[in-house]
Amino acid sequence: MDHRLPRKSLGALLAIVLSFTGCAEWTYQRMNDPSRDVWQKPQGVVEKLSIMPGARVADLGAGGGYFTWHLSKAVGSRGTVYAVDIEEKAINMIFTEMVARGTPNVRPVRAEPHDPRLPEPVDLVFSCNVYHDMNDRVDYFRSLASSLRPGGRVAILDFHPRGFLSGMFGDRTDKEVVRGEMEAAGYRLLNDYDVVDRQHFQIFAKADQ
Ligand SMILES: C[S@@+](CC[C@H](N)C(=O)[O-])C[C@H]1O[C@@H](n2cnc3c(N)ncnc32)[C@H](O)[C@@H]1O
Repeated sequence: MDHRLPRKSLGALLAIVLSFTGCAEWTYQRMNDPSRDVWQKPQGVVEKLSIMPGARVADLGAGGGYFTWHLSKAVGSRGTVYAVDIEEKAINMIFTEMVARGTPNVRPVRAEPHDPRLPEPVDLVFSCNVYHDMNDRVDYFRSLASSLRPGGRVAILDFHPRGFLSGMFGDRTDKEVVRGEMEAAGYRLLNDYDVVDRQHFQIFAKADQ
């Protein structure tokens, strides 16, 4: 019997270890691998966001900027994407890429875990694969409401806890948990999309709007 781990599992294990030991740059490069497009379907996701040209969008937990550049295209030259992250390495990577791509509508923002530090209210807060990482989410999103423009929305994608060992590392959240917490934070569900097989994708608006 062969007890060796398959190459793919080794890669995943290494990614988990590295993300805990702070080698974030390598982890971000891995997240930005174009092969991710096959399952992540970034164009399909951004299409569902119905972003108007000129909009202000926050990519909350932007990481290495995988979605940032798609969002930058959607808002156009008159719009702004705030690429928000708590990790300095993420901010530096996005800044370097922003200069290389010549995308002045992207502004990296170094956030605090409890405060996105957005310089102005936005039309959309977009967050992919971050929700499970956040603490005190109900309080966080309740106070985030003051950073939304009238009619503003919050879009959250996170991995479905599926399969053996799934969610063991706290790296996933049930769709119903996201929805329940967002409702407790003062939001209502606007859309529930099924674009990405591995992730749930829900869009919320303030309950009183
Ligand atoms: C798994 S990465 C996802 C990156 C990117 N959204 C993507 O889909 O490739 C999660 C990112 O969220 C960031 N993060 C975690 N908690 C955060 C918070 N409270 N505010 C802003 N960023 C946060 C982490 O530093 C990390 O870069």
